[in-house]
Amino acid sequence: MIWMWLGWALVLTFGVVVFRGAPYVPSRRRYIKQAFTKLYPLGSKDVLVDVGSGDGIVLRIAAEYGARAIGLELNPVLVLISRLMSRRDKKVQVSLVDFWLTPLPDETTIVYAFMVTRDIKKITKKMQSEADRFGRPLKFITYGNRLPGREYDKALVGYALYTFVPLQIS
Ligand SMILES: C[S@@+](CC[C@H](N)C(=O)[O-])C[C@H]1O[C@@H](n2cnc3c(N)ncnc32)[C@H](O)[C@@H]1O
Repeated sequence: MIWMWLGWALVLTFGVVVFRGAPYVPSRRRYIKQAFTKLYPLGSKDVLVDVGSGDGIVLRIAAEYGARAIGLELNPVLVLISRLMSRRDKKVQVSLVDFWLTPLPDETTIVYAFMVTRDIKKITKKMQSEADRFGRPLKFITYGNRLPGREYDKALVGYALYTFVPLQIS
């Protein structure tokens, strides 16, 4: 009986998230590494935020390149798993939050997003308003989607790199 309840709890936890964003599908290690070398050479000057960080694979690879890596994840099971898997990475941090309702940390230099097409307009708006709030440019890597009507700096397989420049200094 307990297994049945646990099973339902898991189905609910993973199921509810799809109303707020993409379901859990991890990025491939090989592609992430290509993105952090050939698309945007990530380094110790960077603070990367993964919006919907899943099991934390992107964060751990970002830390391998010397960046500080912050994950924002809504699914508590994935937060637990990613914290366990990243426990030795001092540069990795994961918060249990809804990224739509959470401001980016002030130190953010680059945001990574693996999202569903439905959310692309909304994340474009959020990125622009965060760049405006910071009063400085903000880099953005999308995986699986391009931003309609916006030119990318560079593209590589499923990835595209964008720069959001502040429209007004707040
Ligand atoms: C496609 S997966 C990407 C996981 C990871 N970024 C990667 O590339 O391996 C999307 C993740 O976003 C999370 N997610 C969806 N909506 C969210 C929200 N509103 N706030 C925080 N996390 C969310 C899901 O739970 C899932 O883990």
